Amino acid sequence: MKNRFIPLLGIFSIFSFTACNNAVQDEMAVAETTPEKAIFEGQPLSMEYEDEITKLISQMTLEEKAGMLHGTSMFATSGVPRLGIPELTMADGPLGIREEISRDSWAPAGWTNDFATYLPAGAGLSATWNPQLAYTFGNVIGAEARDRNKDVLLAPAFNIIRTPLGGRTYEYFSEDPFLNTQITVPYIVGVQENDVAACIKHYAVNNQETNRGTVDVQMDERTLREIYLPAFEAAITDAHAYSVMGAYNRFRGDYLNENEYMLQNVLRDQWGFKGIVISDWAAIHSTVKALKAGADVEMGTPRPFNEFYFADPLIAAVKAGELSEEEVDKHVRRVLRLMYNIKSIDSTGRAKGARNTEQHLKDAYDIASESIVLLKNDKKMLPLDLEGISSIAVIGDNATKKNALGGFGAGVKTKLEVTPLEGLQNRLPESIQINHAQGYLERYSKTDKAKYGDITLNGPVTIDELDPQLLEEAVNAAKNSDVAIIFAGSNRDYETEASDRANLDLPFGQEELINKVMEANPNTIVVMIAGAPFDIENVDQRASTLVWSWFNGSEGGNALADVLLGKVNPSGKLPWTMPKNLEDSPAHATKSFPGGDVATYDEGILVGYKWFDTKNIEPLYPFGYGLSYTDFELSNAKVDKTEAYANAETIRVSVDVENTGKLDGKEVVQLYVSKEDSEVERAAQELKGFIKALVPAGGSKTVTIEIPVKDLAYYSNENSDWVVEPGTYTLRIGNSSRNISEEVIVNIK
Ligand code: BGC
Repeated sequence: MKNRFIPLLGIFSIFSFTACNNAVQDEMAVAETTPEKAIFEGQPLSMEYEDEITKLISQMTLEEKAGMLHGTSMFATSGVPRLGIPELTMADGPLGIREEISRDSWAPAGWTNDFATYLPAGAGLSATWNPQLAYTFGNVIGAEARDRNKDVLLAPAFNIIRTPLGGRTYEYFSEDPFLNTQITVPYIVGVQENDVAACIKHYAVNNQETNRGTVDVQMDERTLREIYLPAFEAAITDAHAYSVMGAYNRFRGDYLNENEYMLQNVLRDQWGFKGIVISDWAAIHSTVKALKAGADVEMGTPRPFNEFYFADPLIAAVKAGELSEEEVDKHVRRVLRLMYNIKSIDSTGRAKGARNTEQHLKDAYDIASESIVLLKNDKKMLPLDLEGISSIAVIGDNATKKNALGGFGAGVKTKLEVTPLEGLQNRLPESIQINHAQGYLERYSKTDKAKYGDITLNGPVTIDELDPQLLEEAVNAAKNSDVAIIFAGSNRDYETEASDRANLDLPFGQEELINKVMEANPNTIVVMIAGAPFDIENVDQRASTLVWSWFNGSEGGNALADVLLGKVNPSGKLPWTMPKNLEDSPAHATKSFPGGDVATYDEGILVGYKWFDTKNIEPLYPFGYGLSYTDFELSNAKVDKTEAYANAETIRVSVDVENTGKLDGKEVVQLYVSKEDSEVERAAQELKGFIKALVPAGGSKTVTIEIPVKDLAYYSNENSDWVVEPGTYTLRIGNSSRNISEEVIVNIK
């Protein structure tokens, strides 16, 4: 049987729901349940090929075996052609299938047929709060990987966002383990339905780029289990990801790829993983220790391929008796098992994939249009009413900036990337004049000393200088237009793999530009395009209208224009907390970022909103926040049982969602759990369920969120196990972590 996506109806049927009558509503109330884990179920690796694998291994030389365990080109291992074993081919990445890289260097291979659909970056996907769209995303990127003849997709990337400065925040999903899991699982299921293995990364606790190659991360077991591992665990036990990327950093002293606790005890013994561990590129540091700990395939070591740790040194270790050939066979077996399962050995019936299709563009559009977050709409300037408007100033380098390629990390060579300016040109009637001005220049402070990627460090302050002529053009454009839209934020050169940002400042003098444009035209809309929080408190104090968009894929500009013009009613919600000050964020308040040789996560379980809520610190915009062009009211929260037994039951909480405005819209109903009189430290509240529901204008709908009682457990360091504490729990329901409108109480016995 193929991997299955089991659609739990509500999520689809609601989209075609226009009229509101009781019959339909009742049906909705039944069908629309929380998109919890079990909805998306992957197919476990089949063990039915083990005899054939034994036979193949018995015919292989030691050299052939070693060839299957290390890169013999940048993104592939060797096959054994005489036995019908192909290479194992891999491709990044998070934004779409990366362009082909040369076999023996990082230079692009220069192909002309390696274009791919550019999909919204991870933070945008999670801002949809829509697991169905995560499944769609996975399915698109999986099909494109297959069409490019790739066996392993090096994605999804979903390390917890511990600091807002993180260079890869834009690639990752969330600060919250529950939201992280809800996006990760369907993504993987979607990928693997295409006979492509997902390689989930970066396992694990790789939450900063600073010193990522060496930093030794320390935290207690509870923090590990409650915050940093849940999405990885669900990726293995529910989605059945076939491969795992061992991260660069160390954990409790050992490199992740030499970490027996993480690779053997947790991943294989506790979670039942039967696939392969592929090292991050250049993250292997030994032969015997790494193999014995559980790493299977070594990639990216900056040496000739035959000098990789799992190449000649592996052969030598066997010959010297330091490593048994059975140990080598164990790793080869795992690789072959994966190959059979994705049908790369016997390719009969293997999915064919597809790339750059109209459907994939439409999917990219759908994801982008649900990801955009409306932060502020005080003057109700949005959606733009074109009546009486004859000109719009479009200002800012981000109006024309393309983000498919860029930065240090993987990008995608795409045929289409609609910029915000092009989106408006596509969507506005010709009668409206667009006055475009670049406004600011990207400037980087590269110094001779800086490593590649250190763009925001070490530099002179010129990064913030505005060009006087560009400023003047922008101010004039604003003055001479009925409305001004500033596209500000960052880009993928500024937010990048391999370095964290030095601070949260808006770079390139944008704050000054925004101020001057707002002085010239009070009808100014500020649109931020970025993947991570920025300090926009000053902008927020002055701007009446604020929108947050992302590095948002091939159709990003069209989706953004449709939100600004009201064709799409925004429904994105922040997947992380936007702090007022960096020092308010837990890793910074505890001064434990970035650490030195060791990074101790001193905030423990209080990551993201859990810290802000527990310590009563007001964020600029809270986790889960996002407005709509309509208004929703939540009422009548009910719980199906007020008493339940630990580990045995599921609690169902229903709530009425009323759309009191004039436009159809989607609301994310969020459920947070509090345990006030707990015997152990607890966050003030934790997200434990959510559902995104479409409610027609003037309509109302009852949604039901299911919470298995076992999800109320905390991880006990003493028992080395999950414990559901008896007593009273408050289930808090709202549309952001800071806007709770309903509460119900349950007693756990
Ligand atoms: C990144 C990985 C990526 C690999 C191959 C590494 O630098 O950390 O996410 O898959 O390179 O490009």
